[in-house]
Parts: sequence; structure tokens; C-alpha cells
Amino acid sequence: MRFSKTAVLAVVANTVLAQRPSNISICDYYTTALLKDNTADNQATLLTLVVNTVVIGNYTQPNVGVSVPGILAPGTYDGADVNLLPYFTGELASSNRGGDHGVSVNFLDDGGAEPLKNNKPANTENSSQYFLLTHLYQFFGSLLGCSKQGMPGFDAYGGHASMYEVHKFMALDPNELGYFITQVGLAASSFGVADSDVQAVGTALTSLFDERCAPPTTVIPSQGAQLQAICIDDTCPLAAEATCASYEPVVEPSPVSSSVSATPTASSTSLYPTAIPTAGAGTNGVGLGAVAGGIGALFWW
Ligand code: HEM
Ligand SMILES: *[C@@H]1O[C@H](CO)[C@@H](O)[C@H](O)[C@H]1NC(C)=O
Ligand SMILES: *[C@@H]1O[C@H](CO)[C@@H](O)[C@H](O)[C@H]1NC(C)=O
Ligand SMILES: *[C@@H]1O[C@H](CO)[C@@H](O)[C@H](O)[C@H]1NC(C)=O
Repeated sequence: MRFSKTAVLAVVANTVLAQRPSNISICDYYTTALLKDNTADNQATLLTLVVNTVVIGNYTQPNVGVSVPGILAPGTYDGADVNLLPYFTGELASSNRGGDHGVSVNFLDDGGAEPLKNNKPANTENSSQYFLLTHLYQFFGSLLGCSKQGMPGFDAYGGHASMYEVHKFMALDPNELGYFITQVGLAASSFGVADSDVQAVGTALTSLFDERCAPPTTVIPSQGAQLQAICIDDTCPLAAEATCASYEPVVEPSPVSSSVSATPTASSTSLYPTAIPTAGAGTNGVGLGAVAGGIGALFWW
């Protein structure tokens, strides 16, 4: 993936951007609104800005006054404490690399927050951090209907097809999903995305990934129907047409002892964002999922 030489926003309104016409995808509309030309490069840049903000919290200047803690910051959701960081540092044996149990992977192995602040996925192009971040740009680009994705400048999604398989050894619960989805909504809001679009995205993410035992569903068209439930803990809401037999018993991830863990210590404190804003952390401020929104508005196949 290539990145625009400058990711400075061409237009940053102090308020929410104008209403999106229903025949233009969220990706195309906000690429044009924020970066002017609706090119593959600019679509990749938009997704980089939004996903990096989801991960490390708001870091771009100026912004529209929405504070985003980011998924690496501890917070609360629905009154429960949430801390997703250990899933990304290698502190938990929670990654699926095949087999019947999770393994420890440090996803902050290539610069941590620093390259993200520079609108990059990682310092180099062959690290766990690089592949995770670029796959997130690509995946969300597809979800948001980026019309130029697949052309030079913005690769099609190249990660695993089943979100269940990717996340199955994390044993995630509704508060963890809710916190993550809230950060996606806050990040979008921080760039001026209209509430109606934020809510449509939140509703889609909730119904696709936040329901236990969900039947195989197509998310990336070329990958076909796959098991997509990321929320698999007993406390997750049950999908309408639940196919629990397709899912394996939930395995809680075990902590990895510090001597074995790839988790860095003193020398790499800088891997983690140091100045994470905490105001409004995890307060579901955008009401994601509370409003019925058409998933159709999100998908363009
Ligand atoms: C709406 C919810 C979510 C979506 C759409 C989503 C999507 C994704 C995607 C596309 C990947 C890349 C897969 C690949 O490279 O093959 C990924 C990986 C990952 N996600 Fe999520 N995710 C969600 C929620 C969460 C939550 C709540 C956590 C909690 C910690 C999480 C932790 C991770 C981790 C650690 C990886 C790396 C997994 C690996 O490579 O083994 N995700 N996610
Ligand atoms: C969207 O609809 C408007 C009004 O109906 C039309 O003028 C415009 O060409 C359409 N745009 C696209 C990309 O289809
Ligand atoms: C994040 O956004 C808040 C609200 O606009 C702002 O006060 C803060 O300075 C931003 N943080 C960074 C690091 O840009
Ligand atoms: C990328 O990293 C993997 C695993 O560390 C290694 O086996 C491979 O040779 C590397 N590829 C390149 C092009 O550096």
C-alpha cells in the first residue's frame, strides 16, 4: 500500500460535514469531503487516518473536538472495565496461528504508536504490526464501500476471511466488542462523519460481529459466506438464526509469563501511546447500535 505524500486534511470543518447522498458510499463521500480527490491513494489515506485513530486515539490536527481514547487505552463500556491492550502486546496467548489453542503475538512490534502518528501502519513492511494495520485498512475500506479499492494505491483485503477464526482464541465479550465499536464511531465522528453514518456503521458492525453463533455471512464479497462472530463469550447476545454447532467451545486465553512473552519492557515503553486522552473514555457517547440503520447503506456489492 502506498500513502499520499501528505495526509493533511484538505478540508476540516468545525462541524459535521454535509449530508451524504445515499448513492455514494461512506468511503467515497468522506474521501472527497476530506481529501478532495476520490482516488485509490486518498481512500487508503482516509482509512489509514480513521483506523490509526481507532487504535491510538485522536492524533491529527486539527480535529472537530471529539476526543478518541483508542482501543489500546483502558476504558469502560456499559459500566464494565475494558482493557484490550493485552490482546495486542503478546501478554495473552490469544492469536490463532492454527491448532487448537491461541499463541502469543506482539502486534506492536514495529514502532508501536509512533509510525501510526505519522499516518503509517508500521516502520517496516514485514511485521505483525504491519500486517494487522494494513489488513484493518483494507477490511474497513471494503466495509465502507471504497470504490477504488483493488486499484494501485489501495489493495483489496488480504487477510483471513472468517472473523470468528481470527478472534476465536480471544473469547471476547459484549463489553470488549462494545468498546471497540465505540472507538470506531468516535474516530469517525472526530473527522466530522455525520451521526447518521456513524450510527449506520455501528449498527452494521454490531449485527455482523457482536452476535454469538451467527450463521455464515458474507462480509468481503470475494471471500464468500464465513463464520463472522467475534463476540463468542456466553454473555454475547445470541444471533437470530443461531448456528452454535458451527462454533467450537470457547477457550479463554491464558496469560503468558513475562519471561516467555514478546512483550517489551523498559526499552520499548515508547511502543505504547504515552498521552492517551481519557476524557469520555468508553462512554458510548455516540449511541452506537441504538438507532436502526440500514446495513445496505454501507455495502456496495
Ligand atoms: C467490530 C469488531 C472487529 C472487527 C471488524 C475486527 C476486524 C479485524 C480484522 C480485519 C483483523 C485482521 C485479520 C487478519 O489479518 O487476517 C483483526 C485482527 C485482530 N483483532 Fe479484530 N476486529 C474487531 C474486534 C476486535 C476486538 C474487540 C479485539 C479485542 C482485543 C480485536 C483484536 C484483534 C487482534 C489482536 C487481531 C490480530 C489477530 C491475529 O493476527 O492473530 N478485534 N480484527
Ligand atoms: C446520485 O444521485 C444523484 C441524484 O439522483 C445523481 O445526480 C448522481 O449522478 C448520482 N451519483 C452517482 C455516483 O450515481
Ligand atoms: C484529541 O481531541 C481532543 C478534543 O478535540 C483534543 O483536546 C486533544 O488535544 C486531541 N488530542 C490529540 C493528541 O490531538
Ligand atoms: C518476513 O518475515 C518472516 C517472518 O519473520 C520471514 O520468514 C521472511 O523471510 C520475511 N520476508 C521478507 C521479505 O523480509
